[in-house]
Amino acid sequence: MIQIYFAAGAARWPAYALPLRAALHDAGVTAVLSPFCADPALVDYIIFAPGGEIEDFTPFTRCKAVLNLWAGVEKIVGNPTLAQPLCRMVDPALTQGMVEWVLGHALRHHLGMDRHIVNPDHIWDPTCPPVAWERPVTVLGLGALGLACAAALRAVGFPLTGWSRGEKQIEGLVTHHGAQGLAKALTGAAIVVLLLPKTAATENILNRETLALLAPGAAILNPGRGHLIEDDALLDALNNGQIGHATLDVFREEPLPQDHPFWAHPRVTVTPHVAAETRPASASRVVVENIARAEAGAPLLHLVDRARGY
Ligand SMILES: NC(=O)c1ccc[n+]([C@@H]2O[C@H](COP(=O)([O-])OP(=O)(O)OC[C@H]3O[C@@H](n4cnc5c(N)ncnc54)[C@H](OP(=O)(O)O)[C@@H]3O)[C@@H](O)[C@H]2O)c1
Repeated sequence: MIQIYFAAGAARWPAYALPLRAALHDAGVTAVLSPFCADPALVDYIIFAPGGEIEDFTPFTRCKAVLNLWAGVEKIVGNPTLAQPLCRMVDPALTQGMVEWVLGHALRHHLGMDRHIVNPDHIWDPTCPPVAWERPVTVLGLGALGLACAAALRAVGFPLTGWSRGEKQIEGLVTHHGAQGLAKALTGAAIVVLLLPKTAATENILNRETLALLAPGAAILNPGRGHLIEDDALLDALNNGQIGHATLDVFREEPLPQDHPFWAHPRVTVTPHVAAETRPASASRVVVENIARAEAGAPLLHLVDRARGY
């Protein structure tokens, strides 16, 4: 009998137990699913989240895959004890949440909604914003989340540019790739969305030099990872007007320390890492699909490339 160890934290188990069992049943997979592990050597699959039970993967000698519940894998990918295949989460509900967060915050800045929502002096300013196709948007990262957000923004009418590691051709998007393509992707962008993973290569992608390439007064949306932005460079660019607003969901330290200048800055919006979360109902189906595939000898989906780090 297949043994599945739910090592994603006791607090998550109540939300996942039923959806996982239902997904196993529907997929015709007979398995023992437990949040406890009596003998690591008997475990076939590990359902994992950082901060859970496992630091050392060495005793899990039979394990065929570690199935991460998070899209980001930076807290596990460098674990030297992990020899088993690692899969990240690509959950349709998580993707939908990210699309809604990005679209909502992009439209807030595009329409200048704040002027009307907070208007204590009752200023009658009938200035209209440009229409979407006059406001270029750049999405850094064209993976599961970046591509879905780019498609939604494109559907509204924004001219879209995207940037990824490898070369891509995507209908409706101007694409650039690699270090040499970054400046082209950023030059003149009025809204920038960061949906890159945390790796050594993506650290401080937005820095003094790259922030200066954006259209004056540009808005930044960062639901990716905090380390993608050089904090001091961003604060300087906000203070000198090069950046009009930054909406930040992720930070180098979370929760964001109370004395961090982002909290008090009038043109920074802090959201507490809520852009998108994995939803148990849909994520359970994703996890079980991978288990069923592995049992059938099919390749795993959403496999992490350990050398690239995502
Ligand atoms: N705030 C939240 O609530 C939340 C929720 C979920 C995820 N996230 C974050 O969102 C990130 C993206 O998720 P995802 O599922 O879209 O990841 P993904 O499918 O792995 O896509 C990552 C994208 O980044 C690109 N990339 C990686 N390294 C690069 C580099 N050095 N230069 C240029 N492009 C690079 C990849 O390029 P290639 O296509 O060429 O490989 C790919 O297009 C996650 O890693 C996580 O940090 C945040």
